[in-house]
Amino acid sequence: MLDAATRGPTGGNRQAWGWVVVTDPAIKEQVAQWYREGWQRAYGPRREEVLGAAPSDTGLSPAAYRATEHLADHIQEAPVWVIPVLRNAADSQDPRLGASVYGAVQQLTLAARAHGLGSTLTSFHVAHEEELRTLLGLPADALSMALIPLGYPARGRWAQPKRQPVEAVVHWNTWGEVRPRE
Ligand SMILES: Cc1cc2nc3c(=O)[nH]c(=O)nc-3n(C[C@H](O)[C@H](O)[C@H](O)COP(=O)(O)O)c2cc1C
Repeated sequence: MLDAATRGPTGGNRQAWGWVVVTDPAIKEQVAQWYREGWQRAYGPRREEVLGAAPSDTGLSPAAYRATEHLADHIQEAPVWVIPVLRNAADSQDPRLGASVYGAVQQLTLAARAHGLGSTLTSFHVAHEEELRTLLGLPADALSMALIPLGYPARGRWAQPKRQPVEAVVHWNTWGEVRPRE
């Protein structure tokens, strides 16, 4: 999976990345607490609102809410985490910085799927970036770009992700020029 990830694209092929593989339960436990804090801040107050809403193709469905809640409660149980890190990124103002790692991250997650492993790109730990840097011993200029828990799905079931129809998000030549699907 990491071989597949590191075949991903970076600007100028700089590959200013590192891939921290976390298996240590003590590290996972600490980061999981930070993750839960972030999840609670973002999603906790919306519980009743989201669980009472009708499922939709956009926004957070009740099922997706429960999935994120379950992940927040159990993320430390995923046997392996991968934390992709970019160098020269801690003070970056480049809005496209992530372009030099998220293509690779997607390759990692696709390779995981091919091996029957589940994964999710997560980010709720980021309010504790400084503490994470210390805990993992990251270089001062490094930024964690995601936290990807990996494990075999307990239910062994895969679903097709819900998305807006492609014709609703494709613009022909200029923004807003949409065409029906043929
Ligand atoms: C930048 C980014 C950050 C994300 N952070 C989290 C996260 O912290 N926790 C989580 O459960 N999912 C996270 N996700 C996953 C999205 O919530 C998920 O892709 C979206 O809800 C669609 O769900 P699906 O891919 O399972 O269909 C993140 C996705 C992206 C692209």
